[in-house]
Amino acid sequence: PSETGRVLSIQSHTVQGYVGNKSAVFPLQLLGYDVDPINSVQFSNHTGYPTFKGQVLNGQQLWDLIEGLEANDLLYYTHLLTGYIGSVSFLNTILEVVDKLRSVNPNLTYVCDPVMGDEGKLYVPEDLVSVYCKKVVPVASMLTPNQFEAELLTKLRIGSETDGREACNILHAAGPSKVVITSINIEGNLLLIGSHQKDKEHAPEQFKILIPRIPAYFTGTGDLMTALLLGWSNKYPDNLDKAAEIAVSSLQALLQRTVNDYTSAAFDPQSSSLEIRLIQSQDDIRNPKLTFKAHKY
Ligand code: ATP
Ligand code: PLP
Ligand code: MG
Ligand code: NA
Ligand code: MG
Repeated sequence: PSETGRVLSIQSHTVQGYVGNKSAVFPLQLLGYDVDPINSVQFSNHTGYPTFKGQVLNGQQLWDLIEGLEANDLLYYTHLLTGYIGSVSFLNTILEVVDKLRSVNPNLTYVCDPVMGDEGKLYVPEDLVSVYCKKVVPVASMLTPNQFEAELLTKLRIGSETDGREACNILHAAGPSKVVITSINIEGNLLLIGSHQKDKEHAPEQFKILIPRIPAYFTGTGDLMTALLLGWSNKYPDNLDKAAEIAVSSLQALLQRTVNDYTSAAFDPQSSSLEIRLIQSQDDIRNPKLTFKAHKY
């Protein structure tokens, strides 16, 4: 494995529980990265609870922080990581941040989780979709959509593995050399499809990982998955399949622990307010046992 890096992570913060930066920063630190979090919102808890309160950062406030860093020559980053973004104005400011960081480090890797919705439902304002398509995808280095998000970005209906691979091809043509569709629902189980376009002359290298569905509903897993993919794909820059095997193995060990803990506490694992056992799973993140295998196409 090669060296680590310095990550600017612009995501949600919750006081209690693990989504957004709360589920991305600690694992990246465990993997040896310096992580500088900017909290795009500060909420009491994640939005799966009956209620939440808190504050939302606007684009100008984000830019103020960037200007503060710039004024002290602190804008050198190897990676930018973004997740859930709630408004077009904030997303447009993220695009300015990408430009600014690349003016300092032209080799900046931008890892974008284009969070827009899941299972056919959009949970961001509809006008975000075209900004992601037209402006964000073209500047992203790695993209981690779920099935629904990949459909929105490609306008392709994904009903099979073949469709998933085709969606990756379309996304490569639009920008990112690495694409991981983090979950496609196939007959009740989950399929991850990864794709690395190493150069324009050859077809992308593609693989799949089959993940049995655990009968529970988790939050924060998408954010954790993208963080792990950033962490491991940077350590294995030419082996996205290996990076994904490790990321899936860590995440599944954590989810298993989470379900076991809730079950032994007689708590319903289907509850939408379930919290992942992130701190308790630190060994599964630092020293993962490879329990999942990628199959190359
Ligand atoms: P995002 O919300 O970030 O756009 P996503 O919909 O893929 O992406 P999640 O649904 O949280 O995010 O899934 C991320 C990963 O978590 C999946 O790749 C899968 O490995 C794992 N995962 C989530 N839920 C389950 C589950 N019920 N059983 C097994 N694995 C799960
Ligand atoms: N950010 C906030 C504030 C949330 O409430 C949630 C989910 O409830 C998320 C992000 C996304 O979590 P996930 O990683 O499961 O997509
Ligand atoms: Mg999902
Ligand atoms: Na995802
Ligand atoms: Mg998500």
